[in-house]
Amino acid sequence: MRTFAAFLALAVVATGPAFGQSPKSTAEPAGHVPPAIRHILASIRAADKGQLAVSEEDGRFLRALVASTNAKRVLEIGAASGYSGIWMGLGLRETGGRLVTIEYDPARAREAAANIKAAGLADIVQVIPGDAFAHIPRLEGSFDLVFLDAWKPDYKRFFDLVFPRVTPGGLFLAHNVINKKSEMGDFLAAIETHPQALTSIVSPGHEGISMTYRRR
Ligand SMILES: C[S@@+](CC[C@H](N)C(=O)[O-])C[C@H]1O[C@@H](n2cnc3c(N)ncnc32)[C@H](O)[C@@H]1O
Repeated sequence: MRTFAAFLALAVVATGPAFGQSPKSTAEPAGHVPPAIRHILASIRAADKGQLAVSEEDGRFLRALVASTNAKRVLEIGAASGYSGIWMGLGLRETGGRLVTIEYDPARAREAAANIKAAGLADIVQVIPGDAFAHIPRLEGSFDLVFLDAWKPDYKRFFDLVFPRVTPGGLFLAHNVINKKSEMGDFLAAIETHPQALTSIVSPGHEGISMTYRRR
């Protein structure tokens, strides 16, 4: 028994950090997402039975896009439980900007607000419960970046409502333009033909994101 205990102690020493090396830091984790936020993102995904949240690849893309365009005023239509909102909130930490995200379902809106608060992003991301068609006209000013992820047949109506309020030089993004393209034919035609729109479709995950640049 004593021999086994000695072996165990040796094994722990052997598998721990080598002498003279510092233990692995948990302060700056993979992908520059703090551990507490990684945990929240993972728990949102684990509870997401309806697979509402964007893929992790799309989340990372949204974060990088928000940061790289130096977006300050961001609007999301369709928050669900706050997964994409947290990714964009991380991007806005770099720019000093703010996100307003609107969610129709009251329980999901509460969940989104709680998850965003737990992620330490409540000063950056505001969740508005209710119908985005009713709330958007009450918001002031223009938007540097809009992320549309609501009911797909509504996309064209949202584009008509919001694109005129995108800052010239800003971006209007929409989710699921590949895997749900049959539900939004009128929207896809509009973003290709609008005289002020330059559109490209990218697919960081498998769902597809349209990126429509509003010409200056
Ligand atoms: C695909 S989920 C959004 C997922 C979220 N963007 C994420 O990645 O975590 C779509 C959400 O849009 C909401 N929604 C649909 N129509 C809406 C509307 N008119 N106003 C606000 N929210 C709406 C739905 O209740 C649903 O929670």
